[in-house]
Amino acid sequence: MADKGRFPHYMIKEIFDQPQGLRDAIEPRVSLEEGIVKLDEVRISPEELRALRRINIVASGTSRHAGMAGQYMIQELTNIPVDVDYASEFEYRNPLIGRGELTIVITQSGETADTTAAQREARAKGSRTIAISNVVDSTIAREADGVIYTNAGPEISIASTKAFTAQMAVLFLFALYLGQVREKLSKEQMRRYIRELLELPGNVETVLQSAPECEQLGEKYHKVQDFLFLGRAIHYPIAMDGALKLKEVSYIHAEGYPTGETKHGPNALIDESLPVVMIATCDRNDPGSVLRYEKNLANIKGFKEQSGRVIAIATQGDETIRRIADHTIFVPEAQELLSPILEIVPLQLFAYYMTVRKGLDVDRPRNLVKSVMLE
Ligand code: BG6
Repeated sequence: MADKGRFPHYMIKEIFDQPQGLRDAIEPRVSLEEGIVKLDEVRISPEELRALRRINIVASGTSRHAGMAGQYMIQELTNIPVDVDYASEFEYRNPLIGRGELTIVITQSGETADTTAAQREARAKGSRTIAISNVVDSTIAREADGVIYTNAGPEISIASTKAFTAQMAVLFLFALYLGQVREKLSKEQMRRYIRELLELPGNVETVLQSAPECEQLGEKYHKVQDFLFLGRAIHYPIAMDGALKLKEVSYIHAEGYPTGETKHGPNALIDESLPVVMIATCDRNDPGSVLRYEKNLANIKGFKEQSGRVIAIATQGDETIRRIADHTIFVPEAQELLSPILEIVPLQLFAYYMTVRKGLDVDRPRNLVKSVMLE
């Protein structure tokens, strides 16, 4: 698993590994006919999970973006309030946590010093902890009460891709598991969500077919110096990670922002020199998603009026977006809480091709390491 195979770089190999990584994260833990999620590795009793009052999620970098998406998944499916923190800030916040609360630490390597310190702080305050990690028997995995491995296989490239999508799938599985234990979700709902989860790897295969279009975008935009990535609700963490991917491998400045916040400042930046990448998908079965979609359409039209350039990530078949955006990359229609796993793929490909077009070392960006083991 830890070699490049037919690929020129680890990053592009790991982007294309994602369907298999998702299958390995999901399939051993669900039973469609029984309509259940099996997560015994959580090792926290159903009674304790039923009594949970609050959940904290703590992580660094891309793993924190997974946590931000997980916040929406867990709150939507269980009504448990969730907070998300930077691991490097957690200790300064003197977190008011303790018994009856759960702290989820998300870490690909399981060795990040900030995240190790955060987990130790949470345990010292009496919180139970669960680690979501990609490395078996890592330090953080060993020190947690329960561990859910992402099973994504070794991730060599410094920019995290397949671990990220597997982390979000595991967070969705955990949210379903909590909903199941707390009897918040009916068997029918469980089967519907499990079916959507099982369709994810195939849908990611479909999105990967947009690689040539993303390569063309890399050709067209590789000289641009600044980008703004925008997303609403659960799509905001994806905008954040799309920006982080571009920053960390191509050294192009990029900022992730909640779409609704653009009018409070960043809009002053948008003109022909600063392209906008916007997530503008729509789950037509979700009224909230439809409402946000209408606002996204208005935003795109506004940016175009001020001579901005818009690269949109939209739902397959959306001719409206294709007509008004400068470029559109399509993803299959999916449940609102799972579409982030599809949306990040074109952004990963975009960052990769921009970097290769600039002739940079995409797997070993300057000044960065795969796991920061010092605070
Ligand atoms: C950074 C990596 O150093 O650490 C990122 O470059 C990663 O890709 C972050 O998201 C957190 O690492 P981990 O292993 O705790 O998920």
